[in-house]
Amino acid sequence: MSLATTRTATLNNGKKIPLLGLGTVPSNDNPAGVKDQVIAAVKAGYRHIDCAWFYGTEKYVGQALSELFKEGVVKREDLFITTKVWPSYYHSPEKSLDASLKDLQIDYVDLLLQHWPICLHGDENGLPSIPKDKDGNIIYDDDPASGTKFISVYHSMEDLLDRSTKVRSIGVSNYSISKLKQLLPEVKKHIPVVDQIEYHPKLPQQDLVDFAQENGILIEAYSPVGSEGAPVLKLPLVKSLAEKYNVTVNEVAYAYHILNGRAALPRSSNLERISTNINLPSLTREELDELYALGKESPERYINDPWGYGLGFKWWKGDTLSK
Ligand SMILES: NC(=O)c1ccc[n+]([C@@H]2O[C@H](COP(=O)([O-])OP(=O)(O)OC[C@H]3O[C@@H](n4cnc5c(N)ncnc54)[C@H](OP(=O)(O)O)[C@@H]3O)[C@@H](O)[C@H]2O)c1
Repeated sequence: MSLATTRTATLNNGKKIPLLGLGTVPSNDNPAGVKDQVIAAVKAGYRHIDCAWFYGTEKYVGQALSELFKEGVVKREDLFITTKVWPSYYHSPEKSLDASLKDLQIDYVDLLLQHWPICLHGDENGLPSIPKDKDGNIIYDDDPASGTKFISVYHSMEDLLDRSTKVRSIGVSNYSISKLKQLLPEVKKHIPVVDQIEYHPKLPQQDLVDFAQENGILIEAYSPVGSEGAPVLKLPLVKSLAEKYNVTVNEVAYAYHILNGRAALPRSSNLERISTNINLPSLTREELDELYALGKESPERYINDPWGYGLGFKWWKGDTLSK
């Protein structure tokens, strides 16, 4: 059986990306636990770490990296590290990146993503990260459905890529087809290398995946097991494929993306789960298609954050802004 940790894809700028990446959202309100998660992952063979300023865990990722480098487990150039510019920091992507680099204790990231195509009202340090008025409504600096300021944020990231050594590639996250269609004609020089979106067998979105592929954009799948409670792992087809191939249900869920050429970004607070779920079962084309078909009957999006309203995604619970 081959290992998921060894699979890579080539981005539209010629650089390689490992297709299994460790997510670093904190589990169980324990951001410090991310340090051991990163160490366990890298020792098990992971070479891709998905970080973000917003997660509040980059300091712990940095501590893990520093130990791993010191012990000689890996070198910086062996790893693919991503960070993201949160919408409340939209006015200063470079400052956001510098804050991330400082915490991560590295001098460049392999990939800088625009976390969401929206602009929130943060101060010069991006705070508060989710600004709200006295009635609890999110305070935007541009209309989330019709605004175009998000495009200038991408332009700033393009400039950063051109003039600094702190970034190797740039991309986007939480871009729907309509947002990509707005952005792509305005790109100056650097087409996003990836679009990071929620994706798993319960959330069919072949139209977005096809559109991204037509434009040379690789899909990174976040919440590959459906986030809290891991609902995707309870699907009977996922269980039966795990039995057939003698792998875990997690490994089937990650293979669903990796064998389709997408990156999968799981997270776990369970170090054994991180270390052992690295096999890549050889699911057939037919089985991959059956997994895709699962979500067609009753599609389910598990991350329905309110700042995702108006972006034009399907099945976003509570979204009254998207047309
Ligand atoms: N760009 C974005 O806007 C965005 C949004 C969300 C996420 N992300 C990225 O994607 C990463 C992963 O997404 P995610 O955290 O939403 O979801 P996920 O990896 O789909 O789900 C993680 C959850 O599933 C549980 N789990 C995993 N395997 C399990 C098993 N065999 N049995 C029981 N529970 C199991 C984990 O619990 P244990 O801790 O007990 O293993 C954890 O609570 C994040 O860390 C982040 O890097 C990006």
